[in-house]
Amino acid sequence: MILLTGGAGYIGLHTAAVLIEAGQQVVLFDNFSNSKPLAVKRLEAIVGRAVPCVEGDVRSRADMDGLFDQHPVNAVIHFAGLKAVGESANQPLRYYDNNVAGTLVLLAAMQRAEVRRFVFSSSACVYGEPDVSPIPESAALRPANTYGRTKLMVEEILRDLHVAAPGWSIALLRYFNPVGAHPGGQIGEDPNGIPNNLMPFVTQVAVGRLPELQVFGGDYPTPDGSGVRDYIHVMDLAEGHRAALDWALRDPQEVLTANLGTGRGYSVLELVRAFEKASGKPIPHRIVARRAGDVPAYWGDPSLARQRLGWTARRTLDDICRDAWNWQRRNPQGFA
Ligand code: NAD
Ligand code: UFG
Repeated sequence: MILLTGGAGYIGLHTAAVLIEAGQQVVLFDNFSNSKPLAVKRLEAIVGRAVPCVEGDVRSRADMDGLFDQHPVNAVIHFAGLKAVGESANQPLRYYDNNVAGTLVLLAAMQRAEVRRFVFSSSACVYGEPDVSPIPESAALRPANTYGRTKLMVEEILRDLHVAAPGWSIALLRYFNPVGAHPGGQIGEDPNGIPNNLMPFVTQVAVGRLPELQVFGGDYPTPDGSGVRDYIHVMDLAEGHRAALDWALRDPQEVLTANLGTGRGYSVLELVRAFEKASGKPIPHRIVARRAGDVPAYWGDPSLARQRLGWTARRTLDDICRDAWNWQRRNPQGFA
């Protein structure tokens, strides 16, 4: 059985759907700080069966030990964490507590339960502003914000753990920009409050929840002046987790660090145009000042994941926009 911490969240739900369809047994574990129990019901409707979900906190040793005592877990995918870059600057202790201390408690409980296969949600944030794109895994690691530093610290903790306990198999997955939704439209991204990220902002403009998109910066050294990112369909990302889990279950007893991205970048304005085409909805937008802390352009080199995990992102920007729109159109208020 595979434990998905943070399994009721955006990426966890989509990964659970892919793993269950592939025949895996999963147990979700979540404190619902950034997700809703209804989302798990939607997952159950997609896969046509009950999905065990335990409410608890990764920072609680009692919760974690209880989970491993009650479920025959043989591998963990660790999604649970806080992910808002801006918030991380204002609440550093909360971010280090959730993301770093929470991971330490989980790892100690895994050691006690003798579970040694671990897939970790890292982030392209660990690179900060790169020297070149596409970014290889060997690029310098200089995260530009607190959130990115929490991810890098956990990567380093896991590398140290592996030196001391070489029997562990650990995949560090550095995600680029996850977007889109399950093609059925029952689950998708449902941020609390006003979205920080581009795609949920765009979809909420499309359904009329927000009046217009602000494009942060029109004078970057990019083809159209707006920022460029590597947008990866969340179903491709979910399949990347399935590949990483299959790798870990073969007990390679090493630490594998892999980018999960598409290998190409799109600008904000390209994404807006693709979304308008997919949805048939105009997205009113206005170019405003750059957002503090934003990097002009970057995208990942996914060749290592292809070689080592046999995984490549297959879905296009048009697929991403179609599925993001399908989710938001059917659920204008998200899971509310
Ligand atoms: P999400 O917020 O939708 O999911 C995270 C889940 O973890 C939520 O359901 C939340 O309730 C839960 N959680 C948080 N703290 C917890 C705790 N202490 N104990 C138990 N549960 C807890 O976010 P997501 O987009 O699905 O991201 C999943 C992981 O991927 C996170 O670790 C995030 O940092 C990482 N990541 C996300 C992105 C992105 O842009 N979405 C990019 C790179 C990396
Ligand atoms: N953008 C806008 N307007 C908005 C929101 C975003 O123009 O309202 C622009 C940004 O300036 C940037 C692009 O859209 O050029 C993407 O911005 P996001 O906020 O969607 O994503 P980021 O690239 O800033 O960061 C995201 C996640 C991080 C993750 C990182 C990995 O928020 O958690 O991708 O690449 F680590």
